[in-house]
Amino acid sequence: MAATVVVGGFFGDEGKGKIISYLALRDDPEIVVRAGVGPNAGHTIQLGDRKFFLRMVPSGFVNQRALLLIGAGVLVNPKVLLKEVEETSTKGRIGLDPQCAIIEDAHVRREEESVHLSKRIGSTRSGVGACAADRALRLAKLARDLPELSGFLMDVSGKIHEVLRSGGRVLVEGTQGTFLSLYHGTYPYCTAKDVCASALCSDVGIGPKDVGDVIVTFKSYVTRVGEGPLEGQLPREEVERRGWLEYGTVTRRERRAAPFNFELAKRAVMLNSATQIALTKLDVVFPEARGARDYRDLPAGAKEFIRMIESATGIPVTIIGTGPSADEVIDRRADQE
Ligand code: GTP
Ligand code: MG
Repeated sequence: MAATVVVGGFFGDEGKGKIISYLALRDDPEIVVRAGVGPNAGHTIQLGDRKFFLRMVPSGFVNQRALLLIGAGVLVNPKVLLKEVEETSTKGRIGLDPQCAIIEDAHVRREEESVHLSKRIGSTRSGVGACAADRALRLAKLARDLPELSGFLMDVSGKIHEVLRSGGRVLVEGTQGTFLSLYHGTYPYCTAKDVCASALCSDVGIGPKDVGDVIVTFKSYVTRVGEGPLEGQLPREEVERRGWLEYGTVTRRERRAAPFNFELAKRAVMLNSATQIALTKLDVVFPEARGARDYRDLPAGAKEFIRMIESATGIPVTIIGTGPSADEVIDRRADQE
C-alpha cells in the first residue's frame, strides 16, 4: 500500500480541511498524519452543523478509528495542541514525533515585535518563523524535552511504515499551499518552510517511493491572506459581489481574491507531481452545483470549467466540493480506474 498526500495548490486555504475529512471518512485510513509548517495554518472542518478550526490536530480526527500523528518536521505549540486534543476528544489516539520542534512564547513575541515579519511579510504571528529559525540554528527545544508531552510521543515514521507494510492506508495532510513555499513560492512573501508534496513526505518520514497519489487541492477561485503578489486580484466590492469574501481561520484577516489561475494550477501540478485534483467551492462559483453528489447533476458551466482545468493541467479533477460539509462531495475516483 502507498500513502496518499494532500497538498495545497495555491496560497493555502483551498479547503484542505474539508477534503481531508472527507477522505478520512470515505477511505478509512489507519493513519492520518499532519505535515507542513505548524499552527500558522488552520483547517476548517464542518460535520453537519458542527464546525472545528484546527491548527495542530489532524483534520482526519473525524474518523474515530484513525490513529492521528504529527510528523517530525512540524513545529508544535504545546498549548494549541493540548487545547485541540481536549476539544476533539482525541487523547489516546494522537501521537507526535519526539523530534517535533517546540514553539515557545518567546517565539510568538519575537514575531510580534518583528516589523519585518508581522508588518512587511504579513505573518500570522504564531511564532513559526522564529521557531524555524531557532531550529535551523539548533537552538529550538524538541517535543522529547517537554514532560507535559511525554504521553504523546511516538515513532511517527516507524508507525507509518509499519502500517504501509501491512497493507494499511496512510493519509498525509499538508498545510499552506504551493506558492507559500519558502523555495517555490513568492519569496519573501511566503512561509518558513517548503510546503510542496516532497517536503510533506520529508516532514513525516516517508520517501518518494512510498507515495501513490498526490492530490493537489484548488479552490474554484484564488485567495490570499497577508502580503505578496496575487495576479488578477479583484477589487474588494467585486469580491463581495461574487460572494468570495473570506476571513482567515488563524488571524481573521480578510482574504484577497482573484479568479481561478490556470497557469498557477499547471505549475502546482508540476511542482507536486500531482496525480489528481480536488476542487473545492464549486458551488460558490456555480450556485446550481450546491449539494450535488453526482457529476451528471452539475450545471453545464461547471462541467466546462472542470474540463478546462483538466485540459490545462493534464490530470483529472476527481474530488469536487459542492458545499461546506465533509460529505458534500462528488467523488469521481472510481470512474478513473
Ligand atoms: P485549508 O487551509 O486548505 O485547510 O482550508 P481551510 O479549511 O482553512 O479553508 P477555510 O478556513 O477558508 O475554510 C473553508 C470553509 O469553506 C469551511 O467552512 C468549509 O466548510 C468550507 N468549504 C470547504 N469546501 C467547500 C465547498 O466545496 N463548498 C462550500 N460552499 N464550502 C466549502
Ligand atoms: Mg486554512
